[in-house]
Amino acid sequence: MKIGVIMGGISSEREISLQTGQEMINHLDRSRYEVVPMVIEQRADLIAQVQQTGIDIALLALHGQYGEDGTVQGALETLGIPYTGSGVLASSLCMNKQLSKMLLKAAGVHTPSGLYWQGMDDYDPQVVERLGYPVIVKPNTGGSSIGIQLVQNEKELLSAVQGACSLDQAILIESYYEGTEITCSIVDGEVLPIISISSARSKWFDYKAKYEVGGAEEKVVELPPVIEQRVREAALASYRLLQCKVYARVDMILCQDRPYVLEVNTLPGMTANSLLPKSAAAAGITFTQLLDHIIASSLH
Ligand code: DAL
Ligand code: MG
Repeated sequence: MKIGVIMGGISSEREISLQTGQEMINHLDRSRYEVVPMVIEQRADLIAQVQQTGIDIALLALHGQYGEDGTVQGALETLGIPYTGSGVLASSLCMNKQLSKMLLKAAGVHTPSGLYWQGMDDYDPQVVERLGYPVIVKPNTGGSSIGIQLVQNEKELLSAVQGACSLDQAILIESYYEGTEITCSIVDGEVLPIISISSARSKWFDYKAKYEVGGAEEKVVELPPVIEQRVREAALASYRLLQCKVYARVDMILCQDRPYVLEVNTLPGMTANSLLPKSAAAAGITFTQLLDHIIASSLH
């Protein structure tokens, strides 16, 4: 079977995508697959490369806009090329933090209180007082924590909002919940071991904590059974509600024994330092087996 590993792209997460792609290439079972690395430089590249190479399936190693957000998925659907992971709707919903939060809230899944603006024009700093400080300012459709800032007071707010707006016009401002960051990976509807993240250097799981060696301590966490059950239920409810398929990673804050869903990643990082492969390893699933599973289940 001919597998195209699609990576790079034009989002702010390009570098991470290249790492994800390389890690996948390193671990794909060569006795089963012919591997075609495809580094995408611009949107038109994808279509040209996919058509020229005659791949059987696109293994998506893209992250962020024009990769994880349903656009590439839609292009591949149009070309009739199978691809790994979630479909168009789940991909675009999960990339939009505000819309996914609205749906989660409506379904009774807890998520931090938040405020949303379409852009600087209608942004009103007065309203942020309602949340109380500190707050977390996010570009609404970002990834890898790029452009996210923890803001302690009104003075710090404007530059954080401008920073977020430079990456995506829409801004999401959430209450900062003091607690433990945890993440739940789901493969084919099965929840893998829950991982907790702590960083001595950072108050939250920012870009450096995510990708620098030693940036954060990530370990499988033993939770009291009742709480573990709550976390698993919140992760699965989010995965199902947002119509994810094959695999995803649900990021949460555990605050006073209650999980608050931050976001669902439909193409979670698969770098040497990423959480989903760690979680799979803790369940006895090697990276190679994980890829086999993702491919088989995406073709199903
Ligand atoms: N957006 C990054 C790649 C992640 O979710 O791991
Ligand atoms: Mg993300």
